[in-house]
Amino acid sequence: PTHESLKNSKPKNKKRKRDVEEPQKPIPALAKNGVEKPQDDAVSKPPDERNRKLKDGRKEHFRAQLNHNNHHQASLPSLREKAKLLYNTRKTLPIFAHADEIRQRLRASDVMLLVGETGSGKSTQVPQFLIDEAFCQIKKTAIAQPDRLKKDVKVGGCIAITQPRRVAAISLARRVAEEMGTPLGKASPASKVGYAVRFDTSVSPSTRVKFLTDGMLLQEMLHDPWLTRYSVVVVDEVHERGVNVDLVLGFLRKILASKNEGRGGVPLKVVAMSATADMESLQGFFGEGEELTEAKTGSTDGVPENQISVCHIKGRQYPVQTIYSPEPVHDFVDAALKAIFAIHVKEPMPGDILVFLTGQETVENLEYLVNEYAVGIDPSLPKILVLPLFAALPQAAQQRVFAPAPPRTRKIILATNIAETSVTVSGVRFVVDCGKAKMKQFRSRLGLDSLLVKPISKSAAIQRKGRAGREAPGKCYRLYTEKDYLALDETNTPEILRCDLSQSLLTMKARGVDDIMNFPFLTRPPREALEQALLQLFNIEALDETGKISDTGLHIAKLPLTPHLGRVLLAAAEHGQGCLMDVIDIISCLSVENIFLNTNSEEKKEEAEVARRDLYRREGDHLTMLATVQGYAAENADRKMWAERHMVSHRAMQSVMDVRKQLTAQCKTAKLLLDSNDPRPPCDAISAVPVLKSFLTGFATNTARLVPDGSYRTIVGNQTVAIHPSSVLFGKRVEAIMYNEFVFTNRSYARGVSAVQMDWVGEVLAR
Ligand code: CDP
Repeated sequence: PTHESLKNSKPKNKKRKRDVEEPQKPIPALAKNGVEKPQDDAVSKPPDERNRKLKDGRKEHFRAQLNHNNHHQASLPSLREKAKLLYNTRKTLPIFAHADEIRQRLRASDVMLLVGETGSGKSTQVPQFLIDEAFCQIKKTAIAQPDRLKKDVKVGGCIAITQPRRVAAISLARRVAEEMGTPLGKASPASKVGYAVRFDTSVSPSTRVKFLTDGMLLQEMLHDPWLTRYSVVVVDEVHERGVNVDLVLGFLRKILASKNEGRGGVPLKVVAMSATADMESLQGFFGEGEELTEAKTGSTDGVPENQISVCHIKGRQYPVQTIYSPEPVHDFVDAALKAIFAIHVKEPMPGDILVFLTGQETVENLEYLVNEYAVGIDPSLPKILVLPLFAALPQAAQQRVFAPAPPRTRKIILATNIAETSVTVSGVRFVVDCGKAKMKQFRSRLGLDSLLVKPISKSAAIQRKGRAGREAPGKCYRLYTEKDYLALDETNTPEILRCDLSQSLLTMKARGVDDIMNFPFLTRPPREALEQALLQLFNIEALDETGKISDTGLHIAKLPLTPHLGRVLLAAAEHGQGCLMDVIDIISCLSVENIFLNTNSEEKKEEAEVARRDLYRREGDHLTMLATVQGYAAENADRKMWAERHMVSHRAMQSVMDVRKQLTAQCKTAKLLLDSNDPRPPCDAISAVPVLKSFLTGFATNTARLVPDGSYRTIVGNQTVAIHPSSVLFGKRVEAIMYNEFVFTNRSYARGVSAVQMDWVGEVLAR
């Protein structure tokens, strides 16, 4: 039945085409000339009644955006003109006075720690300070090859700057290209600045400064373990202590400790940058330990080669007044709404508002509410322009946040903790902080990560507040009491202590680190967590019995996905090309938080039931996502309308299509997917079973069975878990379920749920 019904749900007479259907509209970030053109439909379509009222404001904004973007199309001389103008701004950055000091320190030592407040100019200026240094030029050297013969090679020439987030990597690259007066990335073969983030790389043969996510640097190390194309690696945002930063630091330390053996002795310079002053642990990490001591004594003149030098930049910070909530707040979205309008009505212009929320859902809820209320405000007040900012937002929409507001308009940026230190949005004088963030938390009894909304640390609260005082005195409204503030943890717990380590361990194994227990971790995760991650990798056949990486594991490590999703993709390829294409569609949906528009009220829920009738699949969420992507992709006339009609988020679907295109290309490179010009094998019809079985191969431990009282119990761990209300299977009883994500709010929920059969689960677990 599944087979037939899925076929029927497909639009008739429309061939499944990939890629061919995409280029009708270039994906903004990948437009041919590298220019991001503002696209009207990149902004989510608000309901009709709001639409008209918002249009004017938006039009103006797009006009401003066009002006903002024009320089990308400009000729080289005009790029230089612009860079000259920007130089005046750059000179006023606090870091500018330290340019010589930074160069000197790096000439003298290989490792430098740089501490400076967010906005002091670290990320944008450091690469520009260093690029003309002798140690940044390409060096010819001889490196021993596997056949033991030495070969002349070129080492160095580029600077890498790692970022924890895509949006920061891209916006910094754009800014630094402007400041250097060079086109960005693949826009021109002469471009000196580029970026690489998951699913999007933009570099040229002349790239010398490359912004990339720390995850991408780890990927590059799979092909180039000694980072031979780089002279300098700048590790930014170390204070966030994301797990990838920790791994990057571990690998860099190994390179330094080996005296740059695989680089033909050409030194790699390392700069670790942080917005908070706690650099002691890093100093110890790079400065001590056997390996480095050896390197030091190896020096002929007796001066330690790897002296660690620390440079403090005094930030420019105007006073920020803190206003606490007098009472504990129960609904922070509602409290934020009130704070926003209180500021808008009382406070003079200019002064944009930056609101910190927990995730896409709270951002979108508040976006809706603010737009709704803005309609009724006093017309003599300035206009309001609401701009969301979260990781899964399509790039064009993310970049819009950085454009200046149109005249007599107040920008209200609704952000996740992405804006805490990673990005600088100018014009902000008011910060509203909900005091919470979504954090990954590994639940060892379940053996998987879940996202929990948790109070932030004091250090994060201070960072958030600081965002209001970069350009003038500001105000910070904390939506929690002073007592709650004082009870917060001092700093963030490093992610490596609270997340699933299977991806990290796979990266290490693929990089040839077999002895995980002796890897130089900045903070060593507990042995139990490491063992559990090894077991998970073994379960998905990424490791063999001896703990060595298998061919499957090597294959998965090269995919830009978690090991579990990577395994799903490989399993799907075994089921045939059609199944693989379907799975790519579903995985692309999983890359965004939610493809459906939120339905908060009962009334809306019923409306959505009707609107999405053709998309909902009784097999569960995976096939529902598939039907949605296929319906959306097959719509050639007006996708925005299609999305609206089905109450699907057009904005989310644009991101999905973006990822789908990149993932398809990557599967072709990995030879998993044949060329799309080849006709699809006729007998390879779409069927739900292989798709679900592919998912089970990666998620066999994320399963639960129905027990007689009508609840579900996890097959591993025997924990009670409920189907999330957002699932199409909510309230349904099936033999067993498989899920992609485990969320914990007031109870344990499974999200991304499909019905499976117990014997399928048995098959996978029995392997
Ligand atoms: O790294 P850090 O937080 O110390 O500062 P930065 O990111 O180098 O930013 C320095 C300044 O550059 C900011 O205050 C902004 O004025 C500007 N900037 C920008 O206009 N656009 C960006 N995408 C990044 C920075």
